[in-house]
Amino acid sequence: MNKSQPSENQPLKDYILERIASHPQQRITFAEYMEIVLYQPELGYYATNQVNIGKSGDFFTASNLSADFGELLAEQFVEMWEILGCPSVFQLVEMGAGSGLLAQDILSYLNLNYPRFFQSLEYLIIETASGLIEAQKQRLSSGLDSAKVSWQSWETIGDRSIVGCCFSNELVDAFPVAQIILKQGQFQEIYVTADLEKNWIEIADTPSTSRLLDYFEFNQIPILSESYPEGYRSEVNLAALDWLETVTTKLQRGYLLTLDYGYPAPRYYSPYRNSGTLQCYYQHQRHNNPYLNIGRQDITAHVNFTALERYGDRCGLQQLGFTQQGLFLMALGIGDRLNALRDANLSLEQTLRRRDALHQLIDPAGLGNFGVLVQAKGLNDEQKARSLKGLKIPT
Ligand SMILES: C[S@@+](CC[C@H](N)C(=O)[O-])C[C@H]1O[C@@H](n2cnc3c(N)ncnc32)[C@H](O)[C@@H]1O
Repeated sequence: MNKSQPSENQPLKDYILERIASHPQQRITFAEYMEIVLYQPELGYYATNQVNIGKSGDFFTASNLSADFGELLAEQFVEMWEILGCPSVFQLVEMGAGSGLLAQDILSYLNLNYPRFFQSLEYLIIETASGLIEAQKQRLSSGLDSAKVSWQSWETIGDRSIVGCCFSNELVDAFPVAQIILKQGQFQEIYVTADLEKNWIEIADTPSTSRLLDYFEFNQIPILSESYPEGYRSEVNLAALDWLETVTTKLQRGYLLTLDYGYPAPRYYSPYRNSGTLQCYYQHQRHNNPYLNIGRQDITAHVNFTALERYGDRCGLQQLGFTQQGLFLMALGIGDRLNALRDANLSLEQTLRRRDALHQLIDPAGLGNFGVLVQAKGLNDEQKARSLKGLKIPT
């Protein structure tokens, strides 16, 4: 298969070829390949800030639509702080902060509307891509924001030290995933190697780790049963489980809020979805060839929310609820914002633009269908019983 094309990043390609050559079996797992093309320092898509998040970029996220997304999340954070008893230091830990736009929206809104909460706030960003850290620092460098924000890595944060909320938007879908395939009744993993002309070749072979097959048992998916057709292919996000374990270790008391696109396990691993959910984004075009445009395109896979829930239970997280983003934002007041447009002093064009952005945030065929998972740690029975605003069914 010749999957190379001119727009690729040659130094990155050379690096992958070296990694393959230095491996005893002359191959790397697909998960390693994905990790390198996205995150390899100084070479990968995210690491070099090739990533272009926004309406005119490779892809856009909720915060690119309007500040309302961050502002409504902020409303939820305020309530979390109150439930925790208004601690004098409340840490908001944003994991995978992209361009820093969401952080900016949240901080500006809290500063203006909730000064007491803002005073107790420490805003921590955990970000792996150095190019994006620079962009975030530039965006957040103005007065108040800069004093509130610090960039950390998990190593610099003590175990059981965070009191507050760790949250992410479209982080987990960006983790490198393993690819698995069923061949002649065997459960195999996809490896990547290259032929003599340096074209990428996939090889299916025995999995590199038993965690891959265990994952299906853990999710109660009978992957080796006859329901699954020959050639069935999908992904396994082991990095998501490791991440969940790390976050749980660092949390002392508070919440974990995860927003992303995905499905519960039975839907994710439906035998009919026989080529998985891996998707690539390049200049706003979606396709499913991860060997094109290397280092210049995003690669993602949907999130298996069942795995996050079950693994969270195993790590010691309390499950508070799962809902859709549309319902979550409705419960937090996006409907009021839509209604208020009638009396707002805006031009017709401004009104239409704003209405469209708000509708897109809750569109059941788009962002509104994203999953919102809320887990917690260290809450007492009364705190656990307090139903969060965003999880209430809107009336
Ligand atoms: C798809 S972008 C989403 C950005 C942003 N949250 C938004 O909504 O626009 C994924 C982000 O996660 C970051 N990221 C990926 N893996 C990470 C990890 N293990 N820890 C922290 N950040 C990570 C990427 O560099 C990028 O900033």
